[in-house]
Amino acid sequence: MKKRRDLEAENMSNNQLPPHGRTWEKVKAEMEVAQKDDSPWHSERMFIGGSYFGGEDVVEVANEAYQMYINYNALYATKVFPSLVRYETDIVGTLLEMMNAPIGASGSITTGGTESLIMAVKTAHAWAHDHRPGATAPEIVVPHAAHPAFDKTAHLMGIKVVRMTQSPDFRADLEAIERSINDNTIMLAASAPSYPFGVIDPIPEIASLAEKHGLWLHVDACHGGFIFPFARKLGYSIPAYDFAVPGVTSISVDVHKLGYANKGVSTLLLRAASLETYQRYTFEDWPSGTYSTQNLMGSRSGGGLASAWAVMNYLGEEGYLERVSKILDTRERFLDSIRGINELEIWGEPQAYLIAFGSRVVDIFAVDEGMTDRGWLSSRLVAPPSIHLFLDMSHAFIVDDYLRDLAEVVRGVKHGKVQGREKGASYAR
Ligand SMILES: Cc1ncc(COP(=O)(O)O)c(C=O)c1O
Repeated sequence: MKKRRDLEAENMSNNQLPPHGRTWEKVKAEMEVAQKDDSPWHSERMFIGGSYFGGEDVVEVANEAYQMYINYNALYATKVFPSLVRYETDIVGTLLEMMNAPIGASGSITTGGTESLIMAVKTAHAWAHDHRPGATAPEIVVPHAAHPAFDKTAHLMGIKVVRMTQSPDFRADLEAIERSINDNTIMLAASAPSYPFGVIDPIPEIASLAEKHGLWLHVDACHGGFIFPFARKLGYSIPAYDFAVPGVTSISVDVHKLGYANKGVSTLLLRAASLETYQRYTFEDWPSGTYSTQNLMGSRSGGGLASAWAVMNYLGEEGYLERVSKILDTRERFLDSIRGINELEIWGEPQAYLIAFGSRVVDIFAVDEGMTDRGWLSSRLVAPPSIHLFLDMSHAFIVDDYLRDLAEVVRGVKHGKVQGREKGASYAR
């Protein structure tokens, strides 16, 4: 991304409000020019960008619903917008069902996976005051491939993170987790699936450790929550990961990923409503009376929540089954064909729509650059060096083209015709 000083040098950055306004037509025209350097928000040639395409009709429903509520401030939902309260209740209730929650479970909406993880750690930390009084310098234990939002939260809260250093079989390192537990440990984390490898951690085993040591276990199902319940119904064998596993205390599920809501909607689900007191923050000592919220954010648009409710009702179970079926068929076609290229290796057994592959023979980053030169945009992993794909419905149509190019580029790298230029990878910066 261009930095401010580059934009200034190119005379493209304004540091001051213009003295006089301009017409919307002129402002819009300038924005359309600015947008020309952007990639599209989704494309069948992109496996990157963090937005998920569920079909033009789904985009239209989500956008229309978002537009209906774009100016509503969801912070004041309980005071003045009962429709938003209803959407939240319905979405949380549906996700609790999908996650096999017991009677008496509860949950709340957040603005994204990161906020859900922040609130999971915050809630576990407050819970530990009552349930782990010996933890005087709290620590959380997270697998190597868990999302960095755990570390970001721990950094904010002054908690120590013990992050595992490897992912045997591309899953959480169970033995290392057990060795890391001590009197200060308050929480274990697991992913369903992890972002890098798309593989579910051994959650029943981690949950047994949590139960044995009296710890909170958070399962990050930000990606899997809208895939695995439907995959099971389609006959795929999905390892246990949700509240059906005793010992799972909380789960995060993003509706703005494969739930197809517009950005700004995730959920934090709790095994028991009684745990909610540890999540909520209440403050009284100021002139305006009670300030009491379950989540981190204050003001936020009601648009995301409205789009989530609208899309979930528009698609219903049938619509999600249809989409998950297409995505998982596409994944199988990718996996089979990539495995058919001798120089390449898939890491682990991807169970959702995230795939990482690398090579012990060719420079995989050179392969990535060769693919980029042919117009295929993907992410990378550094450990192990890999090309990282996330699949959505749009990729069903390009499997053959992608794989033909991939085979050619791998041959080109092997024979020195395609060279790597850049090493390294970044997830977001
Ligand atoms: C496994 C996992 N958890 C949490 C998050 C954070 O989600 P968000 O980007 O919505 O904050 C991500 C983001 O991709 C993720 O991959």
